[in-house]
Amino acid sequence: MVRLRVLSRLASAFTTPFSPQDFLRLVDPLSSARQLRALVTAVEPETADSVTIRFRPGKGWNPHEAGQWARIGVEIDGVRHWRSYSLSTGAGQDPAITVTAMGTVSTALVRNTKVGDVLFLAPPEGDFVLPEHPRPLLMLTAGSGLTPVMSMIRTLVPRRPDADVVLVHSSPCPEEALFAEELAELADQFPGFRLVQWFTGERGRRLDLTTTSDLDAACPDWRDRAAYACGPADFLDAAEALWDREEGELRVERFSPVLLPGAGGEGGRVTFERSDQEVEADGSTTLLEAGEAAGVVMPSGCRMGICRSCLVPLRAGQVRDLRTGEVHGEPGELVQTCISAAAGPVNLDI
Ligand SMILES: Cc1cc2nc3c(=O)[nH]c(=O)nc-3n(C[C@H](O)[C@H](O)[C@H](O)COP(=O)(O)OP(=O)(O)OC[C@H]3O[C@@H](n4cnc5c(N)ncnc54)[C@H](O)[C@@H]3O)c2cc1C
Ligand code: FES
Repeated sequence: MVRLRVLSRLASAFTTPFSPQDFLRLVDPLSSARQLRALVTAVEPETADSVTIRFRPGKGWNPHEAGQWARIGVEIDGVRHWRSYSLSTGAGQDPAITVTAMGTVSTALVRNTKVGDVLFLAPPEGDFVLPEHPRPLLMLTAGSGLTPVMSMIRTLVPRRPDADVVLVHSSPCPEEALFAEELAELADQFPGFRLVQWFTGERGRRLDLTTTSDLDAACPDWRDRAAYACGPADFLDAAEALWDREEGELRVERFSPVLLPGAGGEGGRVTFERSDQEVEADGSTTLLEAGEAAGVVMPSGCRMGICRSCLVPLRAGQVRDLRTGEVHGEPGELVQTCISAAAGPVNLDI
């Protein structure tokens, strides 16, 4: 810090009219009073479509708890996009994200990230974390849903001799299973960790959570364990319904919001007033998606109604909350654009 303050004073003496921060950024790309940044220190392929990106965050980062996620900002064609990614390393280890290429941002991260790149980010968040007191655990994951659970396994299994964890992970085939080698080694080394890899290709079907028979076979004492689940929406919906019926304890991490089936209505014309853009949006397209498609620089974060980074003032019209179907809107009201759609003509102050 002392070094930075001295540099800052020297920079002030020589750099007017540029701010000292502008020049310090050349010396230290992580230096920014306004925006937390991170330097990419390694990019490691995991499968054909996913990589682990390790990074060193600048000032303002808090160490993550196992299972938490962070918002990551990436510049694509001059526009900064924000998405959330679980931190896949164990608590207390240098942070990393493991990204599977899927759409705009994830594909850019997987295909283009290089060591030395600077990412924008926000401090870790989330309450999908390990229980406070040790308990037998069942982890149910599918696809990239393994990432927060991997952080928990890396935190718990090698450090706690009393750990008792069963992981049932579903993926199409061994080549597409994240962290497969490391998980197999952990299962060999630590008797308190049992791994069930469910390869849908080999078994000819998905893990069925609509009845208890697959779980009874994979983990006979599953009812006695605190359960954690992360994966695609239908996988989690089935797990929640099963645990509701069995009155068990289940924590779920979702990567996308739960929308009410058929919540979308007729939609309408959306005006992005200060950006001078207008677009016709159907009743199931979020205002965030509609704005981004029209080229408006929309604020966003989790994109699932949690973080409130996407709030935009409403000037006129009404919006529909796609999670509940509720229609609301008063002039000046802050609208969560990631879970709201137009309910008739809408005018937004952005
Ligand atoms: C708390 C949290 C943690 C997350 N952790 C991870 C992680 O560790 N690794 C990771 O790869 N992604 C993770 N995601 C998902 C990530 O934030 C992005 O949504 C994902 O990378 C797609 O963004 P995109 O810009 O590439 O796709 P977009 O261009 O924004 O969207 C493409 C389409 O894919 C859909 N989609 C988004 N995510 C999924 C998914 N997981 N499965 C199926 N369809 C999906 C979207 O609804 C959309 O229709 C997490 C999301 C949240 C909210
Ligand atoms: S982007 Fe997080 S609440 Fe909308």
